[in-house]
Amino acid sequence: MKNFSVVILAAGQGTRMKSLLPKVMHKLSGKPLVKWIIDAVSPLKPDNIVIVVGYGHKIVEEYLSKNNIKFVYQEKQLGTAHAVMQAKEIFKNYNGDILVVSGDVPLIKTATISNLIKNNKKNSSSVTILSTEVKDSFGYGRIIRKNGLFERIVEEKDANLNERQIKEINSGIYCFDKNLWKALLKVKPNNAKKEYYITDTIEILKKSGHKVSMLFIKDEIEVKGINSKVELSGAEAILKEQKIKELLNSGVGIIDTNNVYISYDAKIGQDSVIYPGVFIDSGVNIGKKCVLKGSSYIVKSKIADESIISYSYVDGANIGKKVKIGPFAHIRPGSVLKENVKIGNFSETKKSLIEKNSKVNHLSYIGDAQIGTNVNIGAGTITCNYDGKDKHQTIIEQDVFVGSNANIVAPVKIGRGALIAAGSTITHDVPKGKLAIARARQELKRRIKK
Ligand code: UD1
Ligand code: CA
Repeated sequence: MKNFSVVILAAGQGTRMKSLLPKVMHKLSGKPLVKWIIDAVSPLKPDNIVIVVGYGHKIVEEYLSKNNIKFVYQEKQLGTAHAVMQAKEIFKNYNGDILVVSGDVPLIKTATISNLIKNNKKNSSSVTILSTEVKDSFGYGRIIRKNGLFERIVEEKDANLNERQIKEINSGIYCFDKNLWKALLKVKPNNAKKEYYITDTIEILKKSGHKVSMLFIKDEIEVKGINSKVELSGAEAILKEQKIKELLNSGVGIIDTNNVYISYDAKIGQDSVIYPGVFIDSGVNIGKKCVLKGSSYIVKSKIADESIISYSYVDGANIGKKVKIGPFAHIRPGSVLKENVKIGNFSETKKSLIEKNSKVNHLSYIGDAQIGTNVNIGAGTITCNYDGKDKHQTIIEQDVFVGSNANIVAPVKIGRGALIAAGSTITHDVPKGKLAIARARQELKRRIKK
């Protein structure tokens, strides 16, 4: 879509959030509110995205520094019109439309914004307002119509009793043409809050003979404004409900829908089953026919088909097919577990590649290691990867059998098919096929009875 730009209003503290963090930085499903809006408009390829920052601006600017965004600073929060005004310089020679969005409507969809912009063009309007009808209109600007046509917007605090009954509300999302800038100059803070309201520009445009249009949407969820923690958790619940419905309808089993967390953008394949108590974070990708059991916490990971994870913490891992993890395993960043690997109770892996069919069944630590196929790591085995200063690699080739309670002091390599005797402390490379015993001999002495 060509020839439009976006101005996002994000200068307010959001006093109703009761927080020192700027409102737009509060996270919904792990993603700050302002980023939701950026992600919704970006696919439409706007010419510019301008964010009006103010309260806590450094936090917002730093978070978005890698995005292609322009920031303008509103020193005092004198109202939404005053906020938009701060972007005037940027658009001095710009003829495209300006989409104005509050920073606190994270659930807005790309398609709706696209419609709003298209409508404004198609109708040759100076402004198109996105409106909807809500059950509880408290706190929103109400749309006053006369003979069905737009008349003005009245804010909660300025509305009389009749106006407060109106259920059609202003979403805080508008598409203006370049006449916006002239209209802004005429806004006066003649209202209960003594603020410059962007909503007044619409009445001003209408009175000076410009065309004002409305785009009404049915789904009030999309334009829910987040002003408090209650509303934030309400939005979280909406996202979760939508996600769970989508998953159930695509053939994923969720045993207790009230007792799981599944991020809006997690992917889970058909016939996988999610047990109560599971947490699946943003971006996680789970294949088909997987089983995730009680209290598993899955972050930044990919899990292939038919794997089973029970009561485990999995972070930054790439897990192959038919892998079994847990109960009570800790799979840390950089773990790559290939097909049919087993990581059992109280075992931890970090930055390690474990090839097909290998097992780390009990109480082990595998860090900075490469383990070949068909390796058995006995209970209590530790790769000693850290010398207090640097990390070192352990290489264990295919078909190695490591007996219980071995210490493998890296850097070290254990050749194919070797056997490490239980209780050994391995400090030198073991050639292929050898048996290494590195422990004190057993001695038998006379027992002294007291
Ligand atoms: C606003 C609208 C209201 C609409 C509602 C939809 C006005 C006057 N009212 O009310 O009609 O129904 O949104 O959610 O516009 N901001 C600034 N600088 C300021 C003031 C606000 O950047 O000086 C930013 C805020 O950080 C926020 C956004 O503008 O992201 C909206 O402000 P907010 O105070 O939440 O407006 P509402 O009272 O919700
Ligand atoms: Ca708001």
